[in-house]
Amino acid sequence: MPMKYIMEPFRIKMVEPIKKTTREYRLECLKKAGYNMFSLHSEDVYIDMQTDSGTGANSQFQYAAMMTADESYGGARGYYQVLNAVQDIFGYTYAQPVHQGRACEKVLFPCLLGPGKYAISNHFFDTTNGHVVMTGARAINLPCEESKHADVPAPFKGNIDLEKLEATIQEKGAENIGMILMTITNNSVGGQPVSMANLRATGAIAKKYGIPFVIDAARYAENAYFIKTREEGYADKTVREIVKEEFSYADAFSMSAKKDAIASMGGIIGVKENEDLIKQVRLKTIPNEGFLTYGGLSGRDIAAMAVGLYEGIDDDFLAYRVGQTQYLGEKLHEMGIPLQYPVGGNAIYLDSAAIMKHIPWYEFPAQALSVALYLEGGIRGGDIGSLSLDRDPDTHEQQRADIEFCRLCLARRVYTQAHLDYVADVIKYCADHAADYPGYKITEETPVLRHFTVKLEPLGEVK
Ligand code: F0G
Repeated sequence: MPMKYIMEPFRIKMVEPIKKTTREYRLECLKKAGYNMFSLHSEDVYIDMQTDSGTGANSQFQYAAMMTADESYGGARGYYQVLNAVQDIFGYTYAQPVHQGRACEKVLFPCLLGPGKYAISNHFFDTTNGHVVMTGARAINLPCEESKHADVPAPFKGNIDLEKLEATIQEKGAENIGMILMTITNNSVGGQPVSMANLRATGAIAKKYGIPFVIDAARYAENAYFIKTREEGYADKTVREIVKEEFSYADAFSMSAKKDAIASMGGIIGVKENEDLIKQVRLKTIPNEGFLTYGGLSGRDIAAMAVGLYEGIDDDFLAYRVGQTQYLGEKLHEMGIPLQYPVGGNAIYLDSAAIMKHIPWYEFPAQALSVALYLEGGIRGGDIGSLSLDRDPDTHEQQRADIEFCRLCLARRVYTQAHLDYVADVIKYCADHAADYPGYKITEETPVLRHFTVKLEPLGEVK
């Protein structure tokens, strides 16, 4: 029976109350926070859609594993559980736990990159971009053309532009390309999936030119579910079979386990078979993250991650998970709200320049919409547009995003259909009153990853 909303495949036995505040109070909160969503106190947020990272609800099995976790410094049991899971799920020989995704980047990227090198991607996430730049290398994003047209539907808007990839390798010289990185799903263009065909072709190009191929695996399970439901030839395969094939084309992965592995904290570097690379990774892990078998995590974190890795690739869980995002996306689409369409796995990405038509890109329409959603409904999302792009590291010019996205993430196993219906109503209200909201200017910023701590001022009255 087709269902408009795929029911939660769980029942709830512990609840966390949320508090609705007044509009007046929220305006004060915004002023105190310098209009920065990261600076709001989470207690003042009604529906928190800032991220799907580390915000998922743990299962009873994860809590049980945490209670019996091994907290030894050397050789703790959790390490071997993670290693076994990586060998089993991805078919990779080596695994190095670290404390989160950006720790993978900090440890792995200097093994492949350095001054004078380039890293090419379907799109680097902000921290990923930051860690490329911090090695002295330069990041090149080559998202496919379809990703730049929010209202034109395409099944795999997360793909890399293969023609540009090969042309860029030839232009810069293969010996200067330190890695090709595929972000699956592609967060920066709307949580959009990458097709198996695109992964396979990228793997072939990497092999042809002898360039290491790395997967940014934060949302690899959602990506596999999209392949199952959208790509010809995969409908009868299980998510686990699809995951194995996805990773067979790459040499290594960098995974924030806070997303599809449903951990509150954790990351994993996976290396398929390159012994030299894992040796370098281990060398960098000990001084930066801690001893190899705990990698900056408590035994409890590792235990929850080892269980979450399996819960996150369950076909029924993914049908509900991706179904929830699709439900909200379709509802907004029917309301005529401009957004990256069809929606991806982890979030709704509103096309803020199309909603806030009066705000030019350099006055950050996605930030303006994020502020409006918090003001009117206590909903916290965030800018994945020009504000979240750092300035060009060489020219220091403000970079312009292809699309000014306001991202509203769905935490895993946290909110229900009623919450999503409320969110849709608040978005509609803000879109209908768009002309009332001003743009923003930056008053304080840092050179790298500025959006986390930026301070802003409205360029008009927030009524
Ligand atoms: N790669 C991708 C694709 C990500 O989305 C993130 C984090 C990271 C790497 C870094 O992982 O947070 O564990 O250090 N994304 C979060 C987000 C923060 O909100 O999308 P981390």
